[in-house]
Amino acid sequence: MPLGPTDALPKEETKVTEQISCPLHPLHVAIIMDGNGRWAKGRGQIRTMGHKAGVNALKRTITAAVDLGVTHLTVFAFSTENWRRPVSEVNDLMGLLRAFIKSDLERLRKEGVCVRIVGQEQGLPGDIVTMVKEAHDKTKDNSRFFLQVALNYGAQADIVNAVKTIAKMAKSGALNPEDISVESFPGFLSTSGLPPLDLLIRTSGEHRLSNFLLWEAAYAEFVFQDILWPDYGREPLKAALDIFARRDRRFGATESGQEAGHVNQPA
Ligand code: FPP
Repeated sequence: MPLGPTDALPKEETKVTEQISCPLHPLHVAIIMDGNGRWAKGRGQIRTMGHKAGVNALKRTITAAVDLGVTHLTVFAFSTENWRRPVSEVNDLMGLLRAFIKSDLERLRKEGVCVRIVGQEQGLPGDIVTMVKEAHDKTKDNSRFFLQVALNYGAQADIVNAVKTIAKMAKSGALNPEDISVESFPGFLSTSGLPPLDLLIRTSGEHRLSNFLLWEAAYAEFVFQDILWPDYGREPLKAALDIFARRDRRFGATESGQEAGHVNQPA
């Protein structure tokens, strides 16, 4: 079951219609925060120390993102495949998320950040499920900046869940299959309500999507950076945004995206 606004809606019967408010020119950036383990190993430390440093990098990056004109930031904190890691590492990652919410949510709320955590509820510790719902409840009226954290998230499962919902609605007569479209489908994903993804960054020199935002990344620009995630912050984010600003986004058209009406430039 997806976490986030879809939970607040009657299951199956209602299309997700919640629109997250955002400034006139949204800039939606997603990051696969990779390289924590290698960062720790390079220092002779256990992997958890890399994740801990990764949380600090995330805090730096959120501050920099706000400053550099990013309006929406989606980060991959834990994938549905990350359960394959040793139990101790999984527990440590959950502990870091708990600590992050406890120590930073109130500050983020005061700074106008709306926080939403998306992914599958099933399998997560009960207290984490409660905490992430509270995090969204407490910040849902904020619109200065939107932080979406993908937790126990897999894009394939998210798409399959959307298809199941649509199939049940079609079967019950609540939805006409002819009305399913490229425009309406994303409204059934757990990530619904955000502006289109503009830029997807992956750190640590890996060049994979790893089951992250498969639908949402259809027209995103990709930037791969060699830096390990715990070393991330303002300068590498600025460098990625500079690369993005130089890209010619055509959205399948022949000239700079004019036909599609999409032109996004960082501030
Ligand atoms: C990938 O590095 C990183 C993760 C699987 C976890 C990302 C988590 C954080 C940055 C901290 C937790 C986030 C929050 C919101 C509290 P890796 O471990 O795969 O690194 P490696 O490829 O070098 O082994």
